[in-house]
Amino acid sequence: MPSSLSTQYKKQYKWRDWATVFKLVPPLNKCTVLDLGCGIGDQTALLSQRGASVIGIDQDSELLEQARKKNILNSRFIEANIADLSKLGLPKIDGIWCSFTAAYFPNIGQPLKSWLKHLKPGGWLAITEMSGLLNHSPLSIQTQSAIQGFYQLLFDKNLYDFNMGENIEKTINSLSLKLEQKVLLKDKELSQDGKLSKDVIAAWENRLERMKGLQNYLGDKFNEFKEEFIACLNRKDHISSCFVYFYLIKCR
Ligand SMILES: C[S@@+](CC[C@H](N)C(=O)[O-])C[C@H]1O[C@@H](n2cnc3c(N)ncnc32)[C@H](O)[C@@H]1O
Repeated sequence: MPSSLSTQYKKQYKWRDWATVFKLVPPLNKCTVLDLGCGIGDQTALLSQRGASVIGIDQDSELLEQARKKNILNSRFIEANIADLSKLGLPKIDGIWCSFTAAYFPNIGQPLKSWLKHLKPGGWLAITEMSGLLNHSPLSIQTQSAIQGFYQLLFDKNLYDFNMGENIEKTINSLSLKLEQKVLLKDKELSQDGKLSKDVIAAWENRLERMKGLQNYLGDKFNEFKEEFIACLNRKDHISSCFVYFYLIKCR
């Protein structure tokens, strides 16, 4: 039985390299920051601990309930679609934090431009996103091609870009934005080579069970896929080609 999404997000949090990200983000004390796609508010809390007032926005009411229960200092949460922030009456802000949410916008150019309108001059946008979630080896050629077919399907349906971590740089350049930092982050769940630990494997099993789109795409081949994928993560020679990127964009 897969555990709830909020329980999974709690576990994932410790595998991410937020320490590196916070070394690169501008000083947060007394700043107002938007946390776009805030989920259960784990990063909202990290931003608040560093002195920021944070407005977390997400469209999932169950996750926001968990975030609100944390009673994070100087924070508030809004249930909304972040594709359109224009009707939320937001104040001008110092920074935008967006972690693992950009991929939900395969055509990120328009949302990105609209988010930047909320920044004060000199404000910043910090984006953390991955590329190639399921790009692991060794996997059979058929499985690799099924994965690529699934990526393409979701991209074509404008639902998710599995390569957003890499692709977003093209959008940043096409909008002539000022890219201050681009860093590859370590990640103990997503980008780790070799045999993964038991708790990380359990998280992957949960993740695959939550991926209903992948299950529909693979149909009766899903169980076979899952078995092969999990066996791959258990191999000493397992290599992850999933990469987690951090971008810092400064407003001119
Ligand atoms: C993978 S989670 C990332 C959560 C958190 N930022 C983190 O890094 O752990 C993506 C979040 O984006 C939210 N989300 C996706 N599309 C959204 C949209 N159009 N508007 C608002 N929230 C959205 C989801 O509900 C989910 O909480």
